[in-house]
Amino acid sequence: MCGIVGYIGKRPAQDFLLEGLKRLEYRGYDSAGIALLDNGKIKTVKALGKVAELQLKMERSTSSAMAGIAHTRWATHGKPSEKNAHPHIDCKGDVAVVHNGIIENYRELKEALGKRGHAFRSETDTEVIAHLLEEEMSAQGRSASGGKIREVDFEKAFVAMLKQLKGAYGIVAMATKNPEIMLAARLSSPLVLGIGQEEMFIASDASALVGDVKRIVYLDDNEIAVIGKEGYVVKTLSSRKREKEELPLEWNKTVAEHSGYAHFMLKEIFEQPKSFADALRGRLIPGEGKARLGGLRTVEKRLRSINRIVIVSCGTSYHSALVGEYMLEEYAGIKAEVEMASEFRYRKPLLDKKTAVIAISQSGETADTLAAIREAKEKGALVLGIVNVVGSTIARETDAGVYCHAGPEISVASTKAFTSQLAILALLSLYLGRQRGLTLVMGKRIAKELLQIPKYMERVLTQAKAIKKLAKKYAKQAHYLYLGRKYNYPNALEGALKIKEIAYVPAQGYPTGEMKHGPIALIDASVVSVMIMPKDSVYEKNVSGMEEILARGGKILAIATDGDAMLAKKADVIFIPKTLEMLTPLLAVIPLQLFAYYVAVERGYDIDKPRNLAKSVTVE
Ligand code: F6R
Repeated sequence: MCGIVGYIGKRPAQDFLLEGLKRLEYRGYDSAGIALLDNGKIKTVKALGKVAELQLKMERSTSSAMAGIAHTRWATHGKPSEKNAHPHIDCKGDVAVVHNGIIENYRELKEALGKRGHAFRSETDTEVIAHLLEEEMSAQGRSASGGKIREVDFEKAFVAMLKQLKGAYGIVAMATKNPEIMLAARLSSPLVLGIGQEEMFIASDASALVGDVKRIVYLDDNEIAVIGKEGYVVKTLSSRKREKEELPLEWNKTVAEHSGYAHFMLKEIFEQPKSFADALRGRLIPGEGKARLGGLRTVEKRLRSINRIVIVSCGTSYHSALVGEYMLEEYAGIKAEVEMASEFRYRKPLLDKKTAVIAISQSGETADTLAAIREAKEKGALVLGIVNVVGSTIARETDAGVYCHAGPEISVASTKAFTSQLAILALLSLYLGRQRGLTLVMGKRIAKELLQIPKYMERVLTQAKAIKKLAKKYAKQAHYLYLGRKYNYPNALEGALKIKEIAYVPAQGYPTGEMKHGPIALIDASVVSVMIMPKDSVYEKNVSGMEEILARGGKILAIATDGDAMLAKKADVIFIPKTLEMLTPLLAVIPLQLFAYYVAVERGYDIDKPRNLAKSVTVE
């Protein structure tokens, strides 16, 4: 996904801009560019490929400009190329803009601008923004009063330009005529301001600011920010000033470093014992078998009257929601349903005051999930969030919620966010369950077992070498099936998603019981079935499913409970410690993540930058 950084202040802008772009590399991109504003001139440098290419070009002509904007582009309109890379400038080179999102009416705007004499250099939708700004600024310059040329009001021109756009945007612009400020605007595409000492920063993702600023401000939809060396002002489109909450940026620099791991994905897989423990911290009262969720305090009363939960989410967060559905029904005794946010937004969902809609999202910026909660709010439902990124849009737009505290997830393929989301869903089941019929004894058991999970995860991680060997053995497979039942059916979907995303191998996740309704036709000696079959209430059913596959010559790689000697005789096995059935997905998913990772390593792919994928999907 495209990334934006901007700087205005007291030191050469290009240092931060290049560093900021590097910090955003994990989001995926195909080209990069910088515009620097110095001595009344805008200079742009662009490169196809990596930020390192851009840096090489910059090194040939370092600049002392103290204001600049930069961008990593992920092609939407027009192929990846230098000319399509941002920043884009107007005909005269007086304004430069970077943009994330999609301008839906760009064709009409471009045609009209073309007729009025504007020459376009790129195939992008973004370039219309630069030309519209040029036009609005020169319209102001021309409107003479008493023969005097009026001073151009960049801000007014910017707002007039915004009013012509339809679609989604995070925009940052600068102009030679007003070098002391930069302007930014947001509609459905995140932007965050970073506050420094006599310097200001802007980025599409707070991780670009880590190490440079300690306080940040998130822009909301339909807000603009005027930023200068001395500070910032946030306003509405009708120029009304908005007071904004300044939040601490607590991440430290190591989150954006590999710390000795070959890839962020591997680092984050290994971080799970800690990130899981962080999700639980201060939230369990083991002696009372209860969970304490401070983020839900304001809606506690209303939650007591809820009789239905609908969870909306996408991708990996959708899979954690499916596990949550089993947990909530079994332990909280509440009817729960899970909807893919991208589908939910186009249905006519039946929601009422007794329904709680929960959005699960790592980034807190996923466009589909955001649209789903807006729809749910409209319908009067209580809207809650299980979100990782503090201060993100979903976190701000929900009525209440619980943060995952997984720390920044840099790898495009999500891993630790999944297990942290499961931690919160288990806590929520305990919290709601104890408000309803869940017994003290069961509450205590769940709390006690949750506290054991980090230690169990460590044990699973010690098998990384064995999993690597198995990945080597099966790396050339053309197709995988992932099978599981009940709590581990969502894990089958998650395992299949991981291997598709980073190893590009077709894989399907099914409930084991569904095999005989069709997919078993796929089985022959060439197919590997990864079966998640811990000793739980559906173990025997899974064993029958496995026998049917073995009888047809299929190969099995099983995730099993420690000591399952029977399985070890029939299949390749990765063991996980015994735990409560509802918590088995937390342990079983780790071998699936590692297996996908090592298969991708064997196949030689760039794991932290999987093709065609973006970390945060802020467009529909
Ligand atoms: C998978 C993955 C995606 C995300 C999905 C939702 O590894 O990363 O499937 O899970 O795009 O993103 P969030 O959780 O940020 O809403």
